[in-house]
Amino acid sequence: MDRDDPAYKGQSGYNRWLLKAYDRLIIGRIGPFVWRCPGPPLLGNYQRNIRDGHLDVGPGTGWFLLRSGLPDGARLTLMDPNTTVLDFVKPKLGRFDLDVVEADVCKPLPMTGPFQSAAINLVIHCLPGPQSRKAGAVANVAAVLAHDGVLFGATVLGEAGPHTWLARRVLHAFNRQGGFDNLDDSEVAIRAMLEASFRQVQLQVVGSVAIFEARDPIRPAASG
Ligand SMILES: C[S@@+](CC[C@H](N)C(=O)[O-])C[C@H]1O[C@@H](n2cnc3c(N)ncnc32)[C@H](O)[C@@H]1O
Repeated sequence: MDRDDPAYKGQSGYNRWLLKAYDRLIIGRIGPFVWRCPGPPLLGNYQRNIRDGHLDVGPGTGWFLLRSGLPDGARLTLMDPNTTVLDFVKPKLGRFDLDVVEADVCKPLPMTGPFQSAAINLVIHCLPGPQSRKAGAVANVAAVLAHDGVLFGATVLGEAGPHTWLARRVLHAFNRQGGFDNLDDSEVAIRAMLEASFRQVQLQVVGSVAIFEARDPIRPAASG
């Protein structure tokens, strides 16, 4: 990705060092002890919603995919603008019928689907504001979902979230560093992003994290 791209900083930090430490550090420590959101509610979201014909936006290390219950041989598409992420995760997921796409979710997606399910798990807080651009990313995924498909995931809330003192310090540090751009991501804002593209949205807050499922994608009216 071009360094001048607004989405550059949100994906550039995922180098091999961070990816090797990710499961222990982010999923094992920062999730439960900083964001007060342990793995099970996020994993439950995967296990409830993932289907054969799944698109995973920003797969990271694939920790959730590997434990999601997706059967061997199921069709799985991984999409990320960071090729280090894709190269790292691809060998772990060889038991699936895998497709790997280098792309940024903030731009119209280079595939048509239709996918039966899509996840955007712990990605929206990495995407560049304003809210309209994040809503555009959600719309890009909605556009490639089947009419009865589901989008699910989670994201760390911004300043308005119910953070502890420690979580607030980490939130601001990550925003200063550039890996996060989510200070304006309130629960209301995340719901509005999802409701702009889906008729049915369920969202719950666990610690500092909003966990969501969205169904019934809204198709833009055909022009002409
Ligand atoms: C915090 S990790 C989450 C990884 C995984 N989904 C999980 O829940 O463990 C963020 C992931 O989103 C990807 N990402 C960041 N910006 C992106 C963008 N603009 N489009 C698609 N993926 C992006 C990163 O490269 C990374 O793989």
